[in-house]
Amino acid sequence: MDGRTLCLLLVSTSFTYADSNVPTIANDFVFTFFNAYYYNNQPGVLLLALVSNNNNGAANVVVTSPYPSFTTIRIPITPISIEDQFPGPPNITADGRIFVEDKGIRLQSDLPVAVYAHAEVYNGASADSFLVLPTVHLGTQYVALTSTESGLPNVIAVVAYQDNTQVTIGNQTVTINALQVASIASKNVLSGIFINGNKPFGVVSGCMCGFVFDGACNYEAVMLLPVGGWGTQFVAIPFMYLPKNYYQVVANTNSTVVSAGGTTVATLNAGEYRIIQTGAALITSNYPVQLIQLGEDTGNLDNYMGNAFFLQLPSTDKMSSTNVLFQPTGFFELFGTHFQFFLRIVTNLAGAGRIQLDGTTIDALQFKHVPNSNFYYYESITFNTTHSVKTNNPGTQYSVISYSYGLGNGCGFICAFSLPSRI
Ligand SMILES: *[C@@H]1O[C@H](CO)[C@@H](O)[C@H](O)[C@H]1NC(C)=O
Ligand SMILES: *[C@@H]1O[C@H](CO)[C@@H](O)[C@H](O)[C@H]1NC(C)=O
Ligand SMILES: *[C@@H]1O[C@H](CO)[C@@H](O)[C@H](O)[C@H]1NC(C)=O
Ligand SMILES: *[C@@H]1O[C@H](CO)[C@@H](O)[C@H](O)[C@H]1NC(C)=O
Repeated sequence: MDGRTLCLLLVSTSFTYADSNVPTIANDFVFTFFNAYYYNNQPGVLLLALVSNNNNGAANVVVTSPYPSFTTIRIPITPISIEDQFPGPPNITADGRIFVEDKGIRLQSDLPVAVYAHAEVYNGASADSFLVLPTVHLGTQYVALTSTESGLPNVIAVVAYQDNTQVTIGNQTVTINALQVASIASKNVLSGIFINGNKPFGVVSGCMCGFVFDGACNYEAVMLLPVGGWGTQFVAIPFMYLPKNYYQVVANTNSTVVSAGGTTVATLNAGEYRIIQTGAALITSNYPVQLIQLGEDTGNLDNYMGNAFFLQLPSTDKMSSTNVLFQPTGFFELFGTHFQFFLRIVTNLAGAGRIQLDGTTIDALQFKHVPNSNFYYYESITFNTTHSVKTNNPGTQYSVISYSYGLGNGCGFICAFSLPSRI
């Protein structure tokens, strides 16, 4: 086969409830991977599920998939890797038509955990990671985000949670059963395509290898937020070494006005998207939007480290006081160049000076102020070890982002945060 691997790495995340939103830490998850490479001569792809268990006891995790060669994985606490468990097809047709495959993955745990997914080509040339939404947060209405400068096909991959889920992707409708995946792949931009269904389902979208203006192409993947999880205020902070950064925003309501730092940057109708660029700023809108930050090649600012990747940004009302435990992703060094690992903590006024990173309080002076806002951020170089972020202060709310630069490679994910729950 293609030497693809599904490994499970268990690190430990406890949880608390914030307002009407609940953390993305739960017992049941469904997700999928879309192809991270297109040509059969590539060296295979590592498919990784990172399970964060911050409970006192062992979390017993069971992973199932209808994929023909997949054997159920049962794991207690310790890290384990299982070879050749999730190969997936080597390529798919990119004709824009729905293609159904038995390749959904269900991950269940007896204790609440956070789950992150990561795909990386074994030669270290392409990767991305995303937060896996628990099934309680899945919705029936989504809007796709894909590359606007694709080298290889853009993809929307829908994974069903229940049998007889009727899903409409753009102008095509299909009925799929639990853990079946209906996807479309196309070299056209698929951003703004509506994805609706009659039962809750998950969607992963992005590009097999997309560009962000400069550099080489890179895998870009994000698990979309259902429309009910969108927001109207976001903290935008450029990735390390970059003075500004690109973002992609998509709307679900006509006449959605999007501003960055108080200046209007886009007026969008439902199903329209825009690429915007800004330095550290508040991004706001009059109606809810979905916003992703786009990884970029740093060029001569950081020896051409980093590359295009998708990072889901939660709106500020989704920040939480949940204990977060994570481990940076990015594993295969291209030409022996070490990865650089970074973390970002965004918090409210009550957070600066009241957040512990790996057990040590981050001094309030280390937080920078987001211009014209009540928010602060801490952006730091870190190591690829397990990190914890927590607070003992009830008024503190934060969100945590992990991202990594490789040579010509980049990946990142939002750590556990809060979303409206269906139940
Ligand atoms: C995809 O697979 C088919 C059948 O194995 C093969 O003929 C074709 O060349 C492949 N396409 C690419 C782009 O790898
Ligand atoms: C469906 O949508 C695609 C792309 O948006 C378009 O090219 C195609 O013509 C549409 N098909 C129909 C039957 O409307
Ligand atoms: C939104 O705008 C589009 C394009 O102008 C229009 O076709 C559509 O009917 C509008 N939708 C609503 C709900 O007003
Ligand atoms: C962490 O990064 C170092 C190089 O910076 C590397 O040698 C090591 O294998 C990495 N560990 C993991 C778990 O990826």
